[in-house]
Amino acid sequence: MGNGKEFAVVHRTSQIRASPNRLLHLLVLFLGLCFIFSVVSVYMIRHHGANDVVATLMQPCFEKELVSLECWIKPPSKLLHSMSDEELFWRASSPPRIKKYPFNRVPKIAFMFLTKGPLPLVPLWERFFKEHSGLYEIYVHSLPSYQADFPPTSAFYRRQIPSQVAKWGRMSICDAERRLLANALLDINNEWFVLLSESCIPLYNFSIICNYITKSKYSFVGAFDDPALIRRGHYDENMAPEVEISQWRKGSQWFQINRKLALFIVADTKFYPKFNEFCRPPCVGDEHYFPTVLTIQAPDLLANRSITWVDWSREGAHPATFGSTNITEQLMKRMLENNTCPYNNQPTSICYLFARKFAPSALEPLFLLAPKYLGY
Ligand SMILES: *[C@@H]1O[C@H](CO)[C@@H](O)[C@H](O)[C@H]1NC(C)=O
Ligand SMILES: *[C@@H]1O[C@H](CO)[C@@H](O)[C@H](O)[C@H]1NC(C)=O
Ligand SMILES: *[C@@H]1O[C@H](CO)[C@@H](O)[C@H](O)[C@H]1NC(C)=O
Ligand SMILES: *[C@@H]1O[C@H](CO)[C@@H](O)[C@H](O)[C@H]1NC(C)=O
Repeated sequence: MGNGKEFAVVHRTSQIRASPNRLLHLLVLFLGLCFIFSVVSVYMIRHHGANDVVATLMQPCFEKELVSLECWIKPPSKLLHSMSDEELFWRASSPPRIKKYPFNRVPKIAFMFLTKGPLPLVPLWERFFKEHSGLYEIYVHSLPSYQADFPPTSAFYRRQIPSQVAKWGRMSICDAERRLLANALLDINNEWFVLLSESCIPLYNFSIICNYITKSKYSFVGAFDDPALIRRGHYDENMAPEVEISQWRKGSQWFQINRKLALFIVADTKFYPKFNEFCRPPCVGDEHYFPTVLTIQAPDLLANRSITWVDWSREGAHPATFGSTNITEQLMKRMLENNTCPYNNQPTSICYLFARKFAPSALEPLFLLAPKYLGY
């Protein structure tokens, strides 16, 4: 017993003796690091000026001596930035030229919301996105005056991009769409890009929509050639030779495109100026720019149809908007049933993945019917 106690005492003293030693080691290490840091700082201030040192220290990536691949493939931690469109598009248009990724890339779908202000159907989207993080990113372009206030738990928290005023039917809408694409392209893992509005809902659960988009050989852009429209004069001969009348296409602006097509759009300095100058009302820029430019650049990659359901059955300039009283089981069936569309050159019964237009009052009945009809 005595021996045991003695042993314990000896053991404790050696522990006490060890601690100052370790402290001393840490102190020396700390002083060493301080020394190295000041030498590096003095060197950098002498060679690059004080501002560069500050800038270097501000960027977490470059404060380490060896820049790792991680620094280049990490998405920007904040969506807000101070780049002008010109700067942003230039930055976003630089793709790597080697096709194979030297890291385990998990491709994601960018859901891009083009809105004026609030997103009243967000609770429905939250339920749709739940438990699929890592497979999608959200981007929101709204009027610059609109301040979103989503809680940190929301999938939409701080997903607003620097925005500018966009007018429907004008090229400023295309600018907003290109801005969404450019911001989303900064995340190298975004492979597919879907344009949505505040009045859109998903028609299936995440897995089905994800499968449909990621397994498709074609991008879903509505693009049709309507001789009647050409005769109506929306095409301006001044657009030639960049855009010939035979290449003129029309389609719904609600597109889904892959990374390659998104890069074409963001890097386009050839067609955009022509549209900007010669596609003025009644020519609707957002209904012609994407279908026409993509038909010229990559016709073989287009499905030539939109995947967003909309009800044009009533006469008039605007499609139907559905409010609370219109949300019935009948309507659900109308959107989902009796469809046939080509998909990878085979017929399929799923034509539409999204639907519009739903008023804020539609949220509650949709929320109740979604589990049964929409699968989320
Ligand atoms: C999505 O819906 C399909 C068909 O209704 C179902 O088979 C699948 O299990 C659902 N997936 C999830 C993750 O709920
Ligand atoms: C879409 O239309 C273009 C011509 O505008 C055509 O070359 C292409 O094959 C069409 N895509 C499909 C899937 O049929
Ligand atoms: C929605 O319901 C209202 C009132 O019942 C009706 O007047 C309107 O036409 C309906 N709208 C659509 C798009 O069905
Ligand atoms: C779909 O077609 C079937 C058979 O033609 C018909 O009985 C049903 O009412 C249709 N459903 C809808 C929602 O139009």
